Amino acid sequence: MRASFAVFAALLAAAGASPVPELEARQSGNPFIGRSLLVNPGYSKKLDQTRQAFLSRGDQTNANKVKYIQEKIGTFWWISNVFLLRDIDAAIEEARAAKQRGENPIVGLVLYNLPDRDCSAGESAGEFKLSQNGLNRYKQEYVNPFAQKLKAATDVQFAVIVEPDALGNMVTSTSAFCRNARGPQQEAIGYAISQLQASHIHLYLDVANGGWLGWRDNLGPTADEVKAILQKAGSNARVRGFASNVSNYNPYQDSNPPSYTNGSPSADESRYANSLGEALRQRGLPSQFIIDQGRVALPGARREWGEWCNVSPAGFGQPFTTNTNNPNVDAVLWVKPGGESDGQCGMAGAPQAGAWFDSYAQMLVQNAHREIANGANNGGGGGNPQPTPTTQPSQPSQPTPTSNPGNGGGNCASMWAQCGGQGWNGPTCCSQGTCQAINQWYHQCL
Ligand code: BGC
Repeated sequence: MRASFAVFAALLAAAGASPVPELEARQSGNPFIGRSLLVNPGYSKKLDQTRQAFLSRGDQTNANKVKYIQEKIGTFWWISNVFLLRDIDAAIEEARAAKQRGENPIVGLVLYNLPDRDCSAGESAGEFKLSQNGLNRYKQEYVNPFAQKLKAATDVQFAVIVEPDALGNMVTSTSAFCRNARGPQQEAIGYAISQLQASHIHLYLDVANGGWLGWRDNLGPTADEVKAILQKAGSNARVRGFASNVSNYNPYQDSNPPSYTNGSPSADESRYANSLGEALRQRGLPSQFIIDQGRVALPGARREWGEWCNVSPAGFGQPFTTNTNNPNVDAVLWVKPGGESDGQCGMAGAPQAGAWFDSYAQMLVQNAHREIANGANNGGGGGNPQPTPTTQPSQPSQPTPTSNPGNGGGNCASMWAQCGGQGWNGPTCCSQGTCQAINQWYHQCL
């Protein structure tokens, strides 16, 4: 998985000037309204280790936050290879059990196994290679059973994110490897979309993030690329919309965007939904979005927008809500399961992509969005958390994390917590580790 920075979209063969029948690639209605995103027990289990780490340090506050996440916060299930197709069965069972309890869940799945996947960064290269019959294998061994399982479960609602990063690479990657992959990958994604047509399956095609495709020069080419893919899916194919910021670190709405966003019409993800939404509408395409806020970088964490790998410091972001304050956005939610690594890059000690990175998870908990702390303080509440009626899903501790809950008791900050920086009013000593300046605004116990 990778979220690259590319100001200039160089390559692109747009769908062409030839007149095409207007695409009716629209599924009606926001499928998230009145529903809750299904909790993923497999992910919750990974967080046991994180909770234990806090408990062993006597940090009940952060341990409670982890418990709240484990029990109440929905996350997408990543079906990142053929073996993991079995998780779809588990998700369906979970959804049925939730329905039995009187809940109204929607299952979030990420379809992520494209041949020559992650062609540019390589950290998440997948199991299929185009040079080894990967296109056919993708269709037969992965998409077909994926679609079959979903189509058989007509009593369950699904939101499916289609192939993170693929479109970003198609629009901006200049390497020969990516360029050669573009045509077959368009076909692969078109095929997946065509096989997943059903009224209980709501498709969101991944469009990278505002820092990558949101620059003015990239918006038109991105919308053209979407159009080309949907044409491959066939004239009857429908998608509900687009997923952005998957596994990236951009805030949803930021009133004070960092200087590296200067000149971009997509300085935060809500603005990206508007700017790309406009380009899509001009082409007769749908323009609804869902936005990943699984992890959000804290102010000053990145020197460049293009930093995408295990960015530190970061915190868990706004959990699931349909109260998005933007008519183009169906829901804000968690797609990347925070704590699963982006690759062997970024924060020290990072394991390979997808592997559990517990010290990173602990940092996300300590910097988590206030809704997590509130939910934990209220004893976890009952049932699924209802969206907090905020008009502005806020970022963890933005603009300055003055109420950072990282103090694990006593007067000093605990490991991974904030211990200083401009505007910081909390503890400046560490109960574990030493206080190190990450940047002007953020010092962390490491
Ligand atoms: C990894 C996948 C993983 C996903 C979610 C990707 O970067 O390559 O293996 O399932 O992230 O954590």
